[in-house]
Amino acid sequence: MSKFYITTAIDYPSAPPHIGHVYEKVCADVIARWHRNAGDDVFFSTGTDEHGLKIQRYASKLKQEPQEFVDKMSGEFIGLWEKLNISYDSFIRTTQDGHMEIVRDIFKKIYDKGDIYKDWYEGLYCVDCEAFYAEKDLKDSLCPVHNKKLEEIKEESYFFNMSKYQEKILEHILDNKDFVRPETRRNEIINRIKEGVRNLSVSRSSFNWGIRLPMDEKHIIFVWFDALINYISVLGYPQERFKRYWPADIHLIGKDILWFHAMVWPAILLAADIELPKSIFVHGFINIKGEKISKSKGVTVDPLELINKYGADALRYFLLREIRFGEDGDFSEGAFIKRLNSDLANDLGNFVYRTLTMIEKYFNGHIPAAVIADGRWKQKLDKFSDEVNLHMSNLDFNLALDKIWELINMANKYIEDTKPWNLVKKENIDALQQFICILVDAIRKISHAISPFMPQTAKSILEQIGKDVIRKGKPLFPRIDILKSEN
Ligand code: ME8
Ligand code: MG
Repeated sequence: MSKFYITTAIDYPSAPPHIGHVYEKVCADVIARWHRNAGDDVFFSTGTDEHGLKIQRYASKLKQEPQEFVDKMSGEFIGLWEKLNISYDSFIRTTQDGHMEIVRDIFKKIYDKGDIYKDWYEGLYCVDCEAFYAEKDLKDSLCPVHNKKLEEIKEESYFFNMSKYQEKILEHILDNKDFVRPETRRNEIINRIKEGVRNLSVSRSSFNWGIRLPMDEKHIIFVWFDALINYISVLGYPQERFKRYWPADIHLIGKDILWFHAMVWPAILLAADIELPKSIFVHGFINIKGEKISKSKGVTVDPLELINKYGADALRYFLLREIRFGEDGDFSEGAFIKRLNSDLANDLGNFVYRTLTMIEKYFNGHIPAAVIADGRWKQKLDKFSDEVNLHMSNLDFNLALDKIWELINMANKYIEDTKPWNLVKKENIDALQQFICILVDAIRKISHAISPFMPQTAKSILEQIGKDVIRKGKPLFPRIDILKSEN
């Protein structure tokens, strides 16, 4: 049994979770569940990034203490992940004592080594990114991610001697083809490091919502230095769990935080003499009907409402089927309902329902015993799991789902072509048994293959097909009347 450690970014709980947060956590959950199915010893972590100016400002807008604010808001994330069946092993909050202590220890270790020094910082800052920008990286003088004006900052600050690690990290990325994936992101980071790396300001002294520096009470630790360390503090660095699971097999992140994960994080680890993670996987952004998510412009959807209306599995399925992993994708309720009706209600739902109905009708609810002799079907069913797994191991979720739906469609066509009612009329019982056994085997394999994507659906199918006496039951997915929805 091999170990497998996967992390997601830890979200800013400045507002309730949005569909982009949902997408990332679902992707990570699918990977984690797939590894568990394969028998791996999986550790899957997620959490919330609760310090920094952004959080402090959102809290003060609501006239709340930051701690009170994040306590409530992180609860919204935890609640949503529960509804979505995100099977994380640990949820880390950066305001937890254990985490803060480890961050201070690591800061001190790097300081003692001489890689952190005091100076003045002067420059531009995007509070939404919690990041410093150089003039040349701006788009029309605005933050390239948020299209917002930047703030000028001039304050005393501690700096991390990050440029010292630039060559080593570049070499590591060049030598390890899979360290940053996909290829486009790998090229992006290589080019950016080649342009030159500046030392990083890692403390702030103009506000106080953060972890105090161990050697200077007037400063707090820069929120990214604090947040990145979650990946090892969640394992209780340097104790047993850390020894078992580190290095991370996959850090799953979105494209806007690549620099922090592929340059800043490796530099911190190198400075602290800790092994680098195995890979950083960068997903794209979800837009809503072609537009960038923006609460202020009303470009949002409420994930909780979608789950209540259509179910967690349907949402999970849609996001992974519709979007090619690594690329940007689009969400619209109309496209979601279309897929729900065609792929889930029609294809999958009908296939299972028809098969159960036939077992009830022709065999009194008992699955007949027969050996599959049909060459075409035997070959298809034997190869199926390997084909799906190949795509899963490349994190090509949409291709894995295409493969699964190929089998579902083949089975539906088989039912139509075979016309089982004719076999009954002709009393061709052997052929009818053979036919049902093929369908049952297909259902079992499909349930297994969809279980990382749609855990509740897979469980419910396996329960129905595993009963002593099988009854057709209720359809898995009701059809949604598209006219009733606004899109
Ligand atoms: O960046 N589509 O937090 P965050 C897909 N706290 N993914 C999206 C997205 C979208 N529209 N918008 C954001 C932070 N994301 C830091 C991370 S990790 C040590 C600290 C992704 O709440 C984003 O790329 O702004 C990131 O991976 C995650 O959601 C959290 O974003
Ligand atoms: Mg962000």
